[in-house]
Amino acid sequence: MNAPLRVGLAGLGTVGASVVRLIERQREALAARCGRAIEVVAVSARSRAKPRDADVGKLRWVADPVALAADGGIDVFVELMGGEGDPAKSAVEAALNAGKSVITANKALLARHGVALAALAERQHVALNFEAAVAGGIPIVKTLREGLVGNKLARIYGILNGTCNYILTKMEQEKLAFADCLKEAQRLGYAEADPTFDIEGHDTAQKLSILASLAFGTRVDPDAIYVEGISSITPADLDAADELGYRIKLLGVAVATDKGIEQRVHPTMVPKDSAIAQVMGVVNAVTVDADAVHAITLVGPGAGGMATASAVVSDIGDIARGVRTPPFGQPSARLAVSEKAPMQRHEGGYYIRLTAVDRPGTFATIAARLSEQQISLESIVQRHRGGRPQGGADPGGAEPVPVILITYATTEDAVRKALAAVERERVILGAPQVIRIEKN
Ligand SMILES: NC(=O)c1ccc[n+]([C@@H]2O[C@H](COP(=O)([O-])OP(=O)(O)OC[C@H]3O[C@@H](n4cnc5c(N)ncnc54)[C@H](OP(=O)(O)O)[C@@H]3O)[C@@H](O)[C@H]2O)c1
Repeated sequence: MNAPLRVGLAGLGTVGASVVRLIERQREALAARCGRAIEVVAVSARSRAKPRDADVGKLRWVADPVALAADGGIDVFVELMGGEGDPAKSAVEAALNAGKSVITANKALLARHGVALAALAERQHVALNFEAAVAGGIPIVKTLREGLVGNKLARIYGILNGTCNYILTKMEQEKLAFADCLKEAQRLGYAEADPTFDIEGHDTAQKLSILASLAFGTRVDPDAIYVEGISSITPADLDAADELGYRIKLLGVAVATDKGIEQRVHPTMVPKDSAIAQVMGVVNAVTVDADAVHAITLVGPGAGGMATASAVVSDIGDIARGVRTPPFGQPSARLAVSEKAPMQRHEGGYYIRLTAVDRPGTFATIAARLSEQQISLESIVQRHRGGRPQGGADPGGAEPVPVILITYATTEDAVRKALAAVERERVILGAPQVIRIEKN
């Protein structure tokens, strides 16, 4: 048997402690599968005194994670502290500069500095592995980097934030308002005290930027992504989606178009019979459309200590076996510059919910403004009256009438122009709700 692989681990929180436990629990199987034992030999965190969910008492303590990263007594450095800045960034750089392979679960660091860190790893002929950074326990990075290497990818999309999927599922199933479901998610520990990063789509965007790079060979760039969150979704939208044969999910979508790679995060109507629509609760899922395999959907836990540790240990196993691939699937110098998705040119079907004033000519006016933009309608549903919408009452005193329109494929630009024209006509109350439809 070869010498054990000596692991230095910085961060002993939810994921770090689980990694220590999982390596201990799978000690023999890992040694057999990787051809050498894997041993955590040194650890670092902020507080030495804090009780841990793993037996770390006998492990060497290194107070400074950057010093641990370059420590001569470790072969590989595992960064599980989080954050796009220091000490995570300096520690990862220190390990790579010292010629050690690095494993990280840190999507924020990779989204911001992934290309530079990948270039450094390549120069040093070491690995930079990050399976746990996207969709937790789902092995999507390896699937893209290795499993689908013989395919040309057309599109990758997924539910990459369990908090948002939990909220949308609960809103749909229990017909509750967004704010109530968010509170429940916070009570259960699924949502942070400040949930903005999750519910406004930024967490999904960071993960999508990594997936898009792996799928399409672009430079990781979260600023190239159009981002919209779920806070404007109402039970009325979920009800209407249900009646029309859809569910609403927060998706991260990267798709190859003739104008480049479109990358976007927004609430999306997906057909109820699609694989992604079946994914309920705090679960993640990723669908890949590729020419040889057609569609593959991977579903599983996107977070949680042990599930995420599973991905980290898989990366450690690769290093123990001597497997090394360029971090983003191809040399970083070959990665193409991402351009910001021109959402105005996005093409697809649209769900539009309007609150129309009940006066003669209203529908004709709406239809005319849509028609001027060459928008054809697949369906029009006039809902029962009631419930005054945001935006106040009709000055003419008539009851508002909720109207739902589903368009055939059109462009974002056409939809926005048509709705601006409808608003100018004063035949609707409040702002229109617009949700893009993603076909399977
Ligand atoms: N939790 C998940 O389900 C999950 C899923 C996928 C990816 N991830 C990623 O995994 C990473 C770790 O997440 P986590 O949930 O395990 O976080 P966590 O529970 O907050 O743990 C963070 C750990 O890092 C240590 N740490 C933080 N700042 C430090 C500093 N300045 N110097 C030294 N140590 C420091 C903390 O030390 P103390 O304990 O002493 O404070 C703690 O042990 C993050 O990048 C996260 O995005 C997490």
